[in-house]
Amino acid sequence: MTQASQDPKQATKLNGRRAYAGGSLLSVTHLSLEQVSGILNVTVQLERMDHAERSRMLAGRRIALLFYESSTRTRTSFELAAKSLGATTTLVSDKSSSIEKGESLKDTGLTLRALGAEAIILRHPSSGAPFLLARETGLPILNAGDGMHEHPSQALLDARTMLMRLPGRDATVATAKSLEGVTVVITGDILHSRVARSNALLLPRLGAKVLLCGPEPLLPASALGLGPGVEIVRDFDEALGRAQVLMMLRIQKERLAGLELDLADYIARYQLNGERLAAGAPDALVLHPGPMIRGLEITGDVADGPNSAIERQVSNGLAVRSALLLRAFGVGGFESVIA
Ligand code: CP
Repeated sequence: MTQASQDPKQATKLNGRRAYAGGSLLSVTHLSLEQVSGILNVTVQLERMDHAERSRMLAGRRIALLFYESSTRTRTSFELAAKSLGATTTLVSDKSSSIEKGESLKDTGLTLRALGAEAIILRHPSSGAPFLLARETGLPILNAGDGMHEHPSQALLDARTMLMRLPGRDATVATAKSLEGVTVVITGDILHSRVARSNALLLPRLGAKVLLCGPEPLLPASALGLGPGVEIVRDFDEALGRAQVLMMLRIQKERLAGLELDLADYIARYQLNGERLAAGAPDALVLHPGPMIRGLEITGDVADGPNSAIERQVSNGLAVRSALLLRAFGVGGFESVIA
């Protein structure tokens, strides 16, 4: 398979040692464009590969899924991806393990390592938890969502979905012009969204303009600090008029921490429904990372309609996460990542 080059930031050394195992994916900011390209390219190669050949790529390798928060898409796709590559997986959840008895993240990671885990996929409610686990275990860690910080594999599969579905794009490569001329409107609970953050950090590097849209309590002005190529637009209908891609987000009730929202007002101003889509952005690609709350941020006719690529996002998760697992082990074109 095509060689993917070494990531300069992953190779950063502390006290003469690499800070994190080279195959870790902690943040999209750790990926060079060349590395994003390598991941997209291997993703395509994996999809074309014969099942038997794919199932030998990580045969005999052991991967732990360590989930402190609920997940359907990320957990299942990482697990199925690992199994399709021949790896053995084990799931450790905060609800049925010694985490319930108070065992720390560090000790849980060291225990998994002692049991033979060679890589850990971590979802955790605290921002930065994957960095701690990577430092303490020395294993490759894949960030499956940490608090309100990042969800890098989601941003990669979102980018792939856009490159596949928008006309005239190449889904096998990432350059500073891959999404040139594309405006992506991300609407909803930006404040609590690690998906919004990872996308706002990645998409402008591929040439896209990112408009963040939502009410002040869910979208503080400080979101502009995410970097160049990001703009705030409060009026959803104005944002629709500029959009080629609409990414809708759920209101994360579990993270609102006392914040009271007038849901009727929110729906009136920010819900993506069929009428609004037809009037404002009839050709826009509609995305949602899930889980969706139909009837709140998006209506069923839009979620199931012809503009929607929501199911495609989910299935893209399998192939992209397969590539990330190969990268974690430094195989299948990623040998230089852990060299
Ligand atoms: N997009 C996403 O992270 O979904 P899950 O919470 O179901 O994994």
